[in-house]
Amino acid sequence: TGLVTLDQGFGSTAACTSAITYIDGDAGILRYRGYPIDQLAEKSTFLETSYLLIYGELPTQEQLSAFTNKVSRHTLLHEDLKRFFDGFPRDAHPMPVLSSAVSALSTFYQDALDPFDHDAVELSTVRLLAKVPTIAAYAYKKSIGQPFLYPDNSLGLVENFMRMTFGFPAEPYEIQPEVARALEVLLILHADHEQNCSTSTVRLVGSSQANLFASISAGINALFGPLHGGANQAVLEMLQKIQKEEDGNVDAYVDRVKNKEDKGARLMGFGHRVYKNYDPRAKIVKQQADGILKTLGVTDPLLDIAMALEEKALADDYFIERKLYPNVDFYTGVIYRAMGFPTKMFTVLFALGRLPGWIAHWREMIEDPGTKIGRPRQLYTGSAERAYVGMGER
Ligand code: CMC
Repeated sequence: TGLVTLDQGFGSTAACTSAITYIDGDAGILRYRGYPIDQLAEKSTFLETSYLLIYGELPTQEQLSAFTNKVSRHTLLHEDLKRFFDGFPRDAHPMPVLSSAVSALSTFYQDALDPFDHDAVELSTVRLLAKVPTIAAYAYKKSIGQPFLYPDNSLGLVENFMRMTFGFPAEPYEIQPEVARALEVLLILHADHEQNCSTSTVRLVGSSQANLFASISAGINALFGPLHGGANQAVLEMLQKIQKEEDGNVDAYVDRVKNKEDKGARLMGFGHRVYKNYDPRAKIVKQQADGILKTLGVTDPLLDIAMALEEKALADDYFIERKLYPNVDFYTGVIYRAMGFPTKMFTVLFALGRLPGWIAHWREMIEDPGTKIGRPRQLYTGSAERAYVGMGER
């Protein structure tokens, strides 16, 4: 069977070729389809970036309008899917609610599940981009006991999501354009990151020719973990802990992390498998954090704690030697909090952003004639052959 080599965590094994996203971890470079992330964050919209990731090129005005119209026409959830939310406990975390509802989409749309039917994939792509924001907003509304708001298709994707999340049926919802733009930029920054844990999961599940909804649902579950997308929630909880238990003093916390005193405790929002330099996304998020707090007139002591923590860690040999820098999750939570999102929703926002990347990778995988079912090997470390021992002799 040839030589099998051990590569735990796939640190040096490429599982596919891909033309979607380029990362140079040493130089701190990130590009989608060749376009630098800072240019997209400044100039693009989330739907335009989604189009770029999925179809490979920036759309013309006509292509973008057609794409936007298609997505807006599919934002409603089936009334039966709405009832699905009633089955979850009131305090359910919205991430498993989101993954369950996305998984359930394959029961509602059985007409378009064939991975090799181009029109079906196109329809599932649009349905996902349109419905995931609605599902995410409903998961939140359910958790606070408020009524669901139907989408308003005269609004853009981000504005519609904010209205469904924060609006009330009895009142008009006033959108703050600076806040909507800040959220849009965050979604663009999260839109793809090549073969991360959740995207690899989407590809692996899809490699068995499971449908797009099933594959994306698996990706959402992979994203939930605190070492991946769940880190944005974990960062905020860490900052709150430092505020409460250490009186905002970051020194003792950093010392405990580097002396590995609390078993497994890490500086959340720091470190990355690929970036051994400042995460280019974190640079943009940090600038955004300052601006959006000023716009909203919010002062948040957690931002001061985060900045002190970053300063302390970046000057500390432990972090310098290991090339640990802030990643995308370090400052996002402070912004989400200022916008009014509860901590539990942070990873859902990451999922909203990552959705086009997952779809683009699944489609690239399905269209690649070189794709084989994902099936890693192992190095067996268990017992050699032994004879069955009867119950009385054990
Ligand atoms: N705090 C303290 N020490 C750390 C950290 C951290 N955040 N990250 C890595 N290290 C240490 C680790 O203990 C190890 O030290 P030693 O050699 O003494 O054992 C060394 O650095 C190498 O770490 P590793 O675990 O081999 O690195 P990895 O590439 O497997 O892990 C990571 C990458 C992102 C999982 C990790 O850095 C981490 O757990 N960070 C905190 C969680 C986090 O912020 N995750 C979000 C990642 S970015 C967004 C996303 O993709 O979701």
